[in-house]
Amino acid sequence: MPQRIPATLIAGDGIGPEIMEATLAVLDALGAPFEWDRQIAGLEGVRAAGDPLPAKTIESIRRNRLALKGPLETPSGGGYRSSNVRLREEFKLYANLRPARTLIPGGRFDNIDLVVVRENLEGLYIGHEMYIQIDDDPHALAMATGVNTRQGSRRLLEFAFAHAVATGRKKVAIVHKANIMKALTGIFLETGLDLYERKYKGQFLLETVIIDACAMKLVLNPWQFDVLVTTNLFGDILSDLVAGLVGGLGMTPGGNIGADAAIFEAVHGSAPDIAGKGVANPIALLLAGAMMLDHCHLPHMAARLRTSIEQTLNLDQVRTGDLGGRSKTAEFTRALIERIGR
Ligand code: NAI
Repeated sequence: MPQRIPATLIAGDGIGPEIMEATLAVLDALGAPFEWDRQIAGLEGVRAAGDPLPAKTIESIRRNRLALKGPLETPSGGGYRSSNVRLREEFKLYANLRPARTLIPGGRFDNIDLVVVRENLEGLYIGHEMYIQIDDDPHALAMATGVNTRQGSRRLLEFAFAHAVATGRKKVAIVHKANIMKALTGIFLETGLDLYERKYKGQFLLETVIIDACAMKLVLNPWQFDVLVTTNLFGDILSDLVAGLVGGLGMTPGGNIGADAAIFEAVHGSAPDIAGKGVANPIALLLAGAMMLDHCHLPHMAARLRTSIEQTLNLDQVRTGDLGGRSKTAEFTRALIERIGR
């Protein structure tokens, strides 16, 4: 029996509790050694504790350095600041790891197996934005400042390169726009090329690609890529693009990894339109659980979970509505647990 691993658990809003219940049952069936410390955030945090990210939740993650998180609702426009962004900042979760792998063959793009590593804290997402009034138009001019640092770029690139080596990846592409944003994305490109020369040369193939060309190439021939590493805004867009190649956000997990903690999640939102109906697809959160197992050096358990999900989808043909099936969350979960038990 592996050692118990304490981890914070946030079920989340909307479909969060439904897909989390499914995920916990499956992780239990696998014998995953997590010792869950249940906490709240998002809308539930506001309702129960008057804060979308209560201090107790932050303390729990600080203690455990590991969390599994359901989707958290953020009101658009006004309201409170995104708890997801606050978590990233609080725990310096500088790397966003987004693997995308085909689970159901025969779709528009078959055999996809890509990883996007996105810088999560810098770039154009630091939130330094302003309007400048000219004459009587208060919004005559809009301005945003992007900041990329050598140190921030290096730690992210180091993470991406080390991940590529550890997972036996053959190729890494640095995605940039250094032809136009010569300083802002040039620093990222320059740091990556330098790090490769000094430390990683020969361990994988490194290429560089401009973001616009990369978007086109990903649609024309995604198989030419392996790992893509890039700055915040480009990474945000590319990781959703590659999620689309494998059937959408319902199938893609994400890991937010940093110096002080690692938080795993489904990349989709709280899906308020289907919440409480028992029809949500739990696969993205299940795959986040698999990433968490890998992170905790339990790769055999992670592999067993991924294989069992594929078998449930393709051999047993049990699928939720978003995948064209008719099964409810609970039926899919039961079938998956049966597969794990075989
Ligand atoms: P969403 O991802 O919640 O939903 C988009 C569409 O996909 C909906 O039609 C929904 O029913 C469907 N969908 C999503 N996940 C599904 C699943 N597991 N199974 C079946 N269908 C699924 O995006 P939306 O509506 O833009 O956002 C809703 C809320 O979620 C917002 O408050 C937003 O801020 C929050 N959100 C939270 C995220 C997080 O915590 N990581 C990420 C994205 C959004």
